[in-house]
Amino acid sequence: MKALILSGGKGTRLRPLTYTGAKQLVPVANKPILWYGIEGIVAAGITDIGIIISPETGGEVRSRTGDGDRFGAKITYILQEEPAGLAHAVKVARSFLEDSPFVMYLGDNLIENDLRPFLESFKQKHLDSLILLRQVPNPSAFGVAIADKSGRVLQLIEKPKEPPSNLALVGVYFFDRSIHQAIDEILPSARGELEITDAIQHLINTEKMVESRTLEGWWLDTGKKDDLLSANQIVLDNQIRPLMLGTSDDRSQVIGRVQVGKGTTIINSSIRGPVVIGENCYLKNCFIGPYSSIGNNVNIVEAELEHSVVLEGATIDNIQQRIVDSLVGRRAVLGTSPKRPKAVRFMVGDDCQIELV
Ligand code: G1P
Repeated sequence: MKALILSGGKGTRLRPLTYTGAKQLVPVANKPILWYGIEGIVAAGITDIGIIISPETGGEVRSRTGDGDRFGAKITYILQEEPAGLAHAVKVARSFLEDSPFVMYLGDNLIENDLRPFLESFKQKHLDSLILLRQVPNPSAFGVAIADKSGRVLQLIEKPKEPPSNLALVGVYFFDRSIHQAIDEILPSARGELEITDAIQHLINTEKMVESRTLEGWWLDTGKKDDLLSANQIVLDNQIRPLMLGTSDDRSQVIGRVQVGKGTTIINSSIRGPVVIGENCYLKNCFIGPYSSIGNNVNIVEAELEHSVVLEGATIDNIQQRIVDSLVGRRAVLGTSPKRPKAVRFMVGDDCQIELV
């Protein structure tokens, strides 16, 4: 069994963060989204992993993630020259996959469930494909499935205007080698891509065995800001244990599940978990409230924030209002003059959103 993780694409929905980096490397609780997928795959006993990368962000994905040693896996990077669809990515990976069955995992998806029971069913029943579904309130944004009571998949439609069910296709698929022939026989969709949904539909049409299982745990497709904040909240809730590798003075209060990286200094501040703070940060006279993740090398002075993600190298200095539900990009600087500000002065990048609420 092998794994193929897709980590290409342009990440348009997470702009401006993804102008300068891969969406799969955007951190959730200070760890790149992609790494959660790798860890889940390795936990299911699969260690031969191919990662599809794009020319734009492939170098960064590769240098951050490495050859797999840190995960106990062997990672092979496979370049997809153009974003020509998920099924096209499988085609590009053919020489890596050979005739092995494999799990395909979209690198911007986060799921709570353990992959092992799904993998077991897929193997035991000798299926051509096993797909994962989840009920969602907005099925039109996804691939949508119709399945019978036993889980057999009858039909799949990619982003239908009038969805026939509320069961969305989660970005984790198990395939046997029959998928390659199906991909060879489909044509590009209206948006010019080779769609994996069409390839699976082709398996169904040619009477292959395609089954589904419904996820009960959480699933996050971290495509947008609010999804990313929810992912951050859920992972902080589930995975953060208290750990203090930095220093805090006796005027500071660190309450609840708070993780602080080495080299970080906390002065006269209150931190209320669950919170994760990276390495070499400087926090003075501030309040960091629940569900916040602060990356490495961040400075926060005279500010209050909660339910927010602050990426590496950012500075927040003397902001009077509490910062909530926010995403602050790498090296961004937010500040006001020490006197009560009478005006606001911005230098805001393309596609940024600023709300004074
Ligand atoms: C892709 C698939 C879609 C699936 C979704 C899950 O869509 O085409 O069927 O439901 O991933 O994340 P995309 O996110 O590329 O729009």
